[in-house]
Amino acid sequence: MQTKAAIKSRRSIREFNPDVSIPKDILESLVDAARFAPTAKNTQPWEFVVITDKNRLAKIGFMADNGRFIADTSACVAIFCKDTKYYLEDGCAATENLLLAATDSGLASCWVAGDKKPYCLAIKELLCVPDEFKLVSLVALGEARHKEENVTSKRLLGEMIHWDKF
Ligand SMILES: Cc1cc2nc3c(=O)[nH]c(=O)nc-3n(C[C@H](O)[C@H](O)[C@H](O)COP(=O)(O)O)c2cc1C
Repeated sequence: MQTKAAIKSRRSIREFNPDVSIPKDILESLVDAARFAPTAKNTQPWEFVVITDKNRLAKIGFMADNGRFIADTSACVAIFCKDTKYYLEDGCAATENLLLAATDSGLASCWVAGDKKPYCLAIKELLCVPDEFKLVSLVALGEARHKEENVTSKRLLGEMIHWDKF
């Protein structure tokens, strides 16, 4: 898939077929794409925890109240960053790369909030993450349960583009 096609076709999917597994090399390729994201001063402050264990996925789904569907996913990538000045921007850039790589691989995905959420600490403890890291995001990955999903609408380009001044 071409980059712009992946960008435009990616949508958040929240219903997954639970009994599907994603090959390890595909999961690795998604994290590989994430690590090429730009970072402030090239700090690359991130670490990626790839969760495929069903028991752990269920626990994360239970903890992340706005990401219950993680329990049904094939995998979830938790993106952590060291607490640098631009950790959030850096971690978000990596998250978007990962989502686009997932789309490119034909996988359904959803960004689930991590940063500032009350469940950050519980997830860090579950995944044995050292104190100095912050949870930026959780990326749910798997096979969409429905072929046709509700496609979220996007504001029109003409409404938001400004040339030379606002
Ligand atoms: C920072 C951020 C946090 C998000 N957190 C959640 C979340 O916790 N749970 C969820 O179901 N979707 C979450 N989303 C997905 C958004 O709801 C989704 O991107 C938005 O509705 C637009 O839909 P689209 O992704 O299909 O374009 C998050 C997205 C972003 C960028």
